Amino acid sequence: MRIDVLTLFPEVFGPLVRSSIIGRAVESGTVEIGLTNYRDFAHDRHRSVDDSPFGGGPGMVMMCGPVFDAVEHVCAARQGSPTRILLTPQGERFTQTVARDLASLDWLALLCGHYEGFDERIRIGLNARELSVGDYVLSGGEPAAMVVMDAVVRLLPGALGHEHSAADDSFSEGLLEYPQYTRPREYRGMAVPDVLLSGDHARIAAWRREQAIRRTRARRPDLLADSADFE
Ligand code: ADE
Repeated sequence: MRIDVLTLFPEVFGPLVRSSIIGRAVESGTVEIGLTNYRDFAHDRHRSVDDSPFGGGPGMVMMCGPVFDAVEHVCAARQGSPTRILLTPQGERFTQTVARDLASLDWLALLCGHYEGFDERIRIGLNARELSVGDYVLSGGEPAAMVVMDAVVRLLPGALGHEHSAADDSFSEGLLEYPQYTRPREYRGMAVPDVLLSGDHARIAAWRREQAIRRTRARRPDLLADSADFE
């Protein structure tokens, strides 16, 4: 997979793309990441990428010109067309289901907004999917693009390594993850549940499933609401 990020702050992605799971996926060639700065496509000598809104109001709006040109540059460099995603608080909610859907694609372009958002013609003209990472307003789309990138890359075959699987993650089955423990068996008076030390894999699996359901019911009953499987 290739992921192009379009942003005014490419430098903030450096540590992420060099570290941990994403860093390893880049090194192994599982994912290729490109960073493009809209400002390199500004049309005036001040390198402007934003302007005040027609109709008045506070803040600044990302202009069409530098954004369209940056996207066209990304497309021309590889003679193709990525799935375009705008990160905005007005977008469809980003979920594990959306992450799985995106992980099946070959090429994504994540467009980070800044200021009061994008000129509406960017969304329309680029035929972009709009995603929000939650019901709060970030000062820019960069943290949201990082969230999307991380959640997608870890689902790519090979990204987590053999010893790991995304299949047990929270949400992979519509449930939160069960409690996990590691050594020591007892810490500050808190013991690891006996069942996990029993070596009985069927009992352990049953316990984990029950814990996942119980935890989901207590913390996120909305996740269970759509499913009859957990009655
Ligand atoms: N940009 C600003 N806020 C955002 C959000 N909640 N999700 C995605 N992009 C954003």
